[in-house]
Amino acid sequence: MRIVLVGPPGAGKGTQATVVAGRLSIPAISTGDIFRANVTAGTTLGVEAKKYMDQGLLVPDEVTIGLIRDRLTEPDAAAGFLLDGFPRTVPQAEELETMLAGIEVKLDRVVELKVDNDEVVRRISGRRLCRNDNTHIFHVESKPPAEPGVCDVCGGELYQRDDDRAETVRKRLREYEEKTAPIVGFYAERGLLASVEAMGTPDEVTERILTALEAH
Ligand code: AP5
Ligand code: MG
Repeated sequence: MRIVLVGPPGAGKGTQATVVAGRLSIPAISTGDIFRANVTAGTTLGVEAKKYMDQGLLVPDEVTIGLIRDRLTEPDAAAGFLLDGFPRTVPQAEELETMLAGIEVKLDRVVELKVDNDEVVRRISGRRLCRNDNTHIFHVESKPPAEPGVCDVCGGELYQRDDDRAETVRKRLREYEEKTAPIVGFYAERGLLASVEAMGTPDEVTERILTALEAH
């Protein structure tokens, strides 16, 4: 299956992407995680992306589109993928459509995670990520690690993202409303959209997503 996961910052995209992609045996591809890995490695891409990420702004389309074009040509993405955090603008959605048409495939479903703003703030303010692997995601209240500050999965150090400060989160939410929310309508027009209630426990949300995908 070829799936896109869309939703505001802190909606639970990363948390759900790993579980859902694992159940479907497809890779979860997160542009945010790819950017963060490049920031850590100090690559040119990382230095460029960090300028925008630290301000809560989207990285320019040409940078992000090129990155996804390369990633989707890797062999593990040939039979399907789950995209977390891409597309995030209408031009990105149009480019993805063109890219996929070029290899004669289409998206199967776009899943929108719906969550209210108070919950977004609660989820982001308590989030902790593993320095070894950004897909190891914790929360000080809803998913605390057994030992504070230590990743349950690999023993890595847990940290708070630079862009999770309250002021930056407000900017990310504005960017979402202005630039990303319009892609929900873009996909609704194409009959691809499934809106899923993302309040409740992570397991409940996973079941709702899988049900929405099965219904397709
Ligand atoms: P990105 O990394 O994609 O960040 P985001 O979209 O803001 O989303 P988050 O990763 O903050 O939240 P999430 O939905 O993954 O939630 P999570 O599962 O972690 O992008 C970062 C930046 O990169 C952007 O600002 C931009 O600069 C750049 N960028 C990336 N893609 C781009 C693109 N395509 N174009 C341009 N720029 C791009 O969950 C959050 C917390 O809640 C965790 O602690 C988790 O444990 C907890 N939680 C999850 N689910 C539940 C639940 N059901 N109940 C209780 N707690 C829960
Ligand atoms: Mg994420």
